[in-house]
Amino acid sequence: MHAAMSSISNIMFIHLFILSFISPSYADPRATLAGRVCTNRTAQGPSRNIFINNFLSAMDAISPLIASQRYGTVIKGTGNNTVYILGECMKDLSQTDCEQCFAQCKTDILRCLPFQLAVRGGRNYFDGCFLRYDDYDFFKESLSPKDEAVCGGRDFRGNQTIYGAIVRELVRNLSIEGPKNSGFSVGSLSSGNITVYGLSQCWESIDRNSCERCLENATLRIQSCSQKEEGRVLNAGCYLRFSPERFYNQSDTNASGGGGGGRRLAIILAAVCSGLAALVILTSGIFFGKRKLAKREERKQLGALAATLRKSDLNFKYEILEKATKYFNDSTKLGQGGSGSVYKGTLPDGKIVAVKRLIFSTRQWVDQFFNEVNLISGIHHKNLVKLLGCSIAGPESLLVYEYVPNQSLLDNLFNRNNSHKLNWKERFNVILGTAEGLFYLHEESDLRIIHRDIKLSNILLDENYTAKIADFGLARLFPENITHISTAIAGTLGYMAPEYVVRGKLTEKADVYSFGVLVVEVVCGRRNNSFNQDSSILQLVWNYYTSARLCDAVDPTLAGNFQEEEASRVLQIGLLCTQASPELRPSMSTVVKLLTSDHDIPQSTPPPFLSSSSTSSSSLPPEIWQPESDSRSSGNNLTLSRIEPR
Ligand SMILES: *[C@@H]1O[C@H](CO)[C@@H](O)[C@H](O)[C@H]1NC(C)=O
Ligand SMILES: *[C@@H]1O[C@H](CO)[C@@H](O)[C@H](O)[C@H]1NC(C)=O
Ligand SMILES: *[C@@H]1O[C@H](CO)[C@@H](O)[C@H](O)[C@H]1NC(C)=O
Ligand SMILES: *[C@@H]1O[C@H](CO)[C@@H](O)[C@H](O)[C@H]1NC(C)=O
Ligand SMILES: *[C@@H]1O[C@H](CO)[C@@H](O)[C@H](O)[C@H]1NC(C)=O
Ligand SMILES: *[C@@H]1O[C@H](CO)[C@@H](O)[C@H](O)[C@H]1NC(C)=O
Ligand SMILES: *[C@@H]1O[C@H](CO)[C@@H](O)[C@H](O)[C@H]1NC(C)=O
Ligand SMILES: *[C@@H]1O[C@H](CO)[C@@H](O)[C@H](O)[C@H]1NC(C)=O
Repeated sequence: MHAAMSSISNIMFIHLFILSFISPSYADPRATLAGRVCTNRTAQGPSRNIFINNFLSAMDAISPLIASQRYGTVIKGTGNNTVYILGECMKDLSQTDCEQCFAQCKTDILRCLPFQLAVRGGRNYFDGCFLRYDDYDFFKESLSPKDEAVCGGRDFRGNQTIYGAIVRELVRNLSIEGPKNSGFSVGSLSSGNITVYGLSQCWESIDRNSCERCLENATLRIQSCSQKEEGRVLNAGCYLRFSPERFYNQSDTNASGGGGGGRRLAIILAAVCSGLAALVILTSGIFFGKRKLAKREERKQLGALAATLRKSDLNFKYEILEKATKYFNDSTKLGQGGSGSVYKGTLPDGKIVAVKRLIFSTRQWVDQFFNEVNLISGIHHKNLVKLLGCSIAGPESLLVYEYVPNQSLLDNLFNRNNSHKLNWKERFNVILGTAEGLFYLHEESDLRIIHRDIKLSNILLDENYTAKIADFGLARLFPENITHISTAIAGTLGYMAPEYVVRGKLTEKADVYSFGVLVVEVVCGRRNNSFNQDSSILQLVWNYYTSARLCDAVDPTLAGNFQEEEASRVLQIGLLCTQASPELRPSMSTVVKLLTSDHDIPQSTPPPFLSSSSTSSSSLPPEIWQPESDSRSSGNNLTLSRIEPR
């Protein structure tokens, strides 16, 4: 009876699952990169964080607009650090494809925010959607100096004279029809056995005149591609593309340049009598074949995943989490990190959870992602925030965590609105709890996890002010390149071990370093501000240490209410953890031992004093240094990062 019930529910689940998840992937969201341009202006110093914060809120705000109207503009912030974002889908895409394309586009544009640098503008052209952010109001811009034509594929094999003439005629027609037709047109044009397909679109924010100007310009620019199989123009206000493949979805549109693309294709197919026709068919066969293969692969993956998900209560429905967080309303927002914003949600059964809305789309690695969620959710420790599950089927990827009520250490120590002031006992317990959580991650758990992002805002406090480490295992959830981006956005340079910043070398000792910084911050009640080298708190504490006056470094707001011996030991342990050489830093098991006993604490060597010269880009490891750049002469001279289309 029970078995029968469960198999029935399994069948229902598979059915729903296929409807809601797999079927959209039959369509083509055209989430392929046509071009990316990052500007050469960067936000530096304290304004970097303000800019990044505005950027992240704007990114949060744009997705619902895309979901409801397939287009949107958002402005966040004020003054010099205002962020403007425009997103739009190509008008022929179905709604599901639009959201999928956009989710990937959002992930991809983060590459304009490389390690440590906040680039103040970027545009990402996908073949199915567009996303741009900048630090000025560009919404009405139709042309800009960064516009370009991108030619792809090989030279057209066939009569190039005819081909070129068709392309010219087609794009001319598209650029005239587009503005008349609310900025969008598709169509094809044939001559003999050659057919070319095209699409033009102006962004919703520009008016008809600007659209005309933009497409006129694009029409001229694209001529440079007229012997190539693929041509695209990526202008500030519009996009124009032609291809010998029928790449667009014409099912519901009347705007047709050459008209009747499908019919003409059929005619070509009927008139198979030449080498060229054979070639056309062959190439399109290869093209569609490849695509089919990729789709089949994806479906196979999703199929296997469906089986896992079915058995799993780690799988949350997107709609439920959406409702639980009042549709990600700002009033439910708990905070924002490098990998996404966190919202407080109330599930239908009344349970309160924290929902992390990832800034990255995990669709491309769902299988691995779910597997990792599965592993990480198996980790239980009193000092770790429990991962309850995830949602991967919706337009955005979400992680669901247990809700920890008393905010983060950062809020508790530095947020003036916070009424509760942590006393010495609580601070000591938080430090010890954090050490025990890290000890578990590094040495006791089977997974051997390096956290990578230990900092005040990642240590949450429960109802008893016990420390709980958040966001552990994130690094395992994301591919290497995404993790670097996330670190970059988080950009908590003050916590990063010098060997990690400089050589990208990541071991548990990098966490030990960050832990040491955190210890010093908690005891001294001051933040380690990486932008202000002169007042480096590590340097300050080191000075007190060498003059044997460590207790003078303790947070004055404690007004002397702490045990001097204990405070001094804790600070010494902090210094031990922040030694320049990773080999000299203790393991977390040693740290726990030192915190819970009165063993002698070894002599410390000095912490690294990260001067701005030693963290300059020239010494950064190349793999986390994405755009070609030269920021040695501190300033706005990054070169552009241009991505050639595949
Ligand atoms: C904004 O930038 C301009 C020019 O870069 C500068 O002169 C001005 O002081 C800045 N304003 C603020 C509020 O930072
Ligand atoms: C084409 O567009 C129609 C209408 O938006 C949509 O129903 C259909 O799914 C789309 N097909 C593809 C392959 O995107
Ligand atoms: C291409 O076609 C044109 C017009 O039909 C013709 O004059 C020309 O000779 C052809 N060129 C080649 C290389 O076949
Ligand atoms: C297109 O517009 C840009 C920017 O205004 C301009 O530099 C370029 O010369 C124009 N190209 C053509 C072919 O008109
Ligand atoms: C296409 O155009 C015809 C005539 O212009 C019109 O009657 C028809 O409703 C249009 N169809 C759609 C889907 O817009
Ligand atoms: C574009 O092509 C359509 C269909 O062939 C044609 O009716 C229309 O006149 C063309 N428009 C222009 C401006 O050439
Ligand atoms: C197709 O194009 C090739 C190369 O230009 C030509 O030789 C052949 O005659 C054409 N076939 C038809 C059916 O037009
Ligand atoms: C940034 O790029 C623009 C145009 O590409 C150029 O004019 C400007 O000089 C560059 N700025 C710097 C500081 O290199």
